[in-house]
Amino acid sequence: MRSLFDKVLVVFAGLFFMAIVSLPATAQDKPAPQLSPEQVEKIRLANNGCLSCHSQAGLEHPPKAGLDLKKLQGLLKDPESFKGSDHQRLACTKCHNEGYEDHPHDADAKDSTSTCTDCHSKKANLIEDQFDKSVHAKNLSDKISCPTCHNPHVMRIASKLIDPHKIVAQDNRVCLSCHDSEEKFAKFAPDKKERPLIDDIHNWLPNTRLHWKAVRCVECHTPAVAPGEMISHEILNKDKAEKKCLSCHSADSSLKTRLYRHLVKDEQQRLGFTNSVILSNTYVLGATRNPLLDTLIMMAFAAILVGLLAHGLGRIIARILQKRKK
Ligand code: HEC
Ligand code: HEC
Ligand code: HEC
Ligand code: HEC
Ligand code: HEC
Ligand code: HEC
Ligand code: HEC
Repeated sequence: MRSLFDKVLVVFAGLFFMAIVSLPATAQDKPAPQLSPEQVEKIRLANNGCLSCHSQAGLEHPPKAGLDLKKLQGLLKDPESFKGSDHQRLACTKCHNEGYEDHPHDADAKDSTSTCTDCHSKKANLIEDQFDKSVHAKNLSDKISCPTCHNPHVMRIASKLIDPHKIVAQDNRVCLSCHDSEEKFAKFAPDKKERPLIDDIHNWLPNTRLHWKAVRCVECHTPAVAPGEMISHEILNKDKAEKKCLSCHSADSSLKTRLYRHLVKDEQQRLGFTNSVILSNTYVLGATRNPLLDTLIMMAFAAILVGLLAHGLGRIIARILQKRKK
């Protein structure tokens, strides 16, 4: 009897283990809309129809004679990036609604393009409220809109990218495309405003170019967020932006609720604030997450100070004595 019970137990344990292992790895992912394989294939074929012209391959071998190739050249889409994007499962015609089936396309086809708000109204309304308080709202509210920063054909949400380097690359490319380019900045800037040089403004930050690769502009230029909350679209000006090194380089790093929020705990610890490079270059208090070491360093610092003072005092006294001797 006993051994049968054991066997049943083993089988149940095995089933339980298999159930756990087969859980989706990224539990935070929202379920994608259910599409049958036939629907997926239909969308793929339809999109390939558009891409037969709107891609490098299409430009080189146009499926039709008499196309305005010069115009087409500026309108190419990379099929591979589209397949990796948030919108990969959407038909092009979900957003480019009418007038694109025929060639040349209808003259007013553009007017039928869906906006982000059409499909993401809840999030978009919140984001619009935040944008209204942003540095960009004052003079640029009719020049900057969602697709200025989000290319709907290539973007991938941070919670799916996960890898901080990929997230930083995607998001900083957006800000730097204007703030590190004379040409593009001038297109948007009001009253011929000069572009502040991005490395000069941040010259208090050691190795700015490395920081642009490791951390996002929005980390310092948006208000604090609670854990789990999405980063605000309110871009802060120079008076409100984060300047404290320890907001990132410390045990309680703000990056935990920002750039590193999609990582598991030990990955968070490995990156950033236990940064050995900083420790070997310049010591940032708190960066080791080791209170004892901090205290020792503070004591060493105090000892050096006392030593310097004593040394200075000694020299003054020596000088006074020398003067008296004379
Ligand atoms: C036979 C080639 C061809 C196919 C197929 C094609 N296009 Fe185009 N498309 C062009 C050319 C050429 C232009 C530029 C000239 C023009 O506007 O007609 C263009 C322009 C566009 C533009 C920008 C023009 C505007 O109105 O701002 C969009 C958006 C566009 N196409 C979307 C699509 C979509 C979506 C599909 C698939 C449903 C599609 N195209 C299929 C050739 C094609
Ligand atoms: C989620 C919505 C969405 C989907 C899906 C989508 N587009 Fe677009 N597309 C847009 C928006 C919005 C713009 C306008 C961008 C802007 O104003 O800067 C645009 C612009 C374009 C343009 C004009 C030139 C440009 O590069 O800005 C072309 C061409 C184009 N899309 C082709 C396609 C093709 C081909 C597909 C399918 C493979 C597709 N789009 C899928 C939303 C979408
Ligand atoms: C035609 C409707 C439609 C339009 C217009 C549209 N989206 Fe989407 N978007 C979707 C759908 C559907 C998904 C989910 C796709 C999936 O899970 O496969 C999605 C996914 C996303 C995601 C990932 C969200 C998540 O929680 O995983 C982001 C971010 C996003 N869209 C931003 C935008 C932005 C920015 C625009 C405007 C430039 C835009 N979308 C326009 C339909 C749309
Ligand atoms: C000035 C550039 C800029 C503009 C304009 C902008 N965004 Fe964003 N958006 C970003 C950046 C950078 C992030 C990445 C923040 C993050 O990882 O949470 C982001 C993140 C998002 C996300 C993902 C949030 C999440 O759930 O994690 C969505 C959805 C989104 N934006 C939609 C929009 C919509 C809709 C608009 C227009 C109303 C818009 N954005 C305008 C820069 C911009
Ligand atoms: C499409 C171009 C463009 C993009 C993209 C863009 N900016 Fe800007 N930004 C500007 C312009 C132009 C100004 C000057 C606005 C003014 O003077 O009213 C500005 C102003 C600012 C300012 C205030 C500086 C000042 O002179 O008042 C900050 C801070 C800023 N941007 C940060 C960002 C960040 C962070 C991002 C990315 C999330 C970003 N910007 C994306 C064009 C852009
Ligand atoms: C480590 C935090 C931090 C990061 C990362 C950061 N900034 Fe800043 N930024 C600041 C602070 C603080 C100031 C104000 C500097 C001052 O007043 O001396 C500032 C100033 C600016 C200004 C000038 C604002 C004005 O009103 O004149 C712009 C524009 C700007 N940043 C854009 C960016 C862009 C674009 C990125 C990403 C490439 C970025 N910042 C990354 C903290 C940061
Ligand atoms: C918004 C967060 C943030 C802020 C604020 C910040 N840093 Fe960093 N810093 C980082 C990240 C992330 C890295 C890269 C860590 C890595 O790659 O291991 C880094 C790297 C460094 C490095 C290593 C550079 C090298 O040469 O290898 C130094 C030194 C440094 N930071 C010092 C500072 C100082 C000093 C300040 C304040 C003036 C500061 N940081 C503010 C996030 C930040």
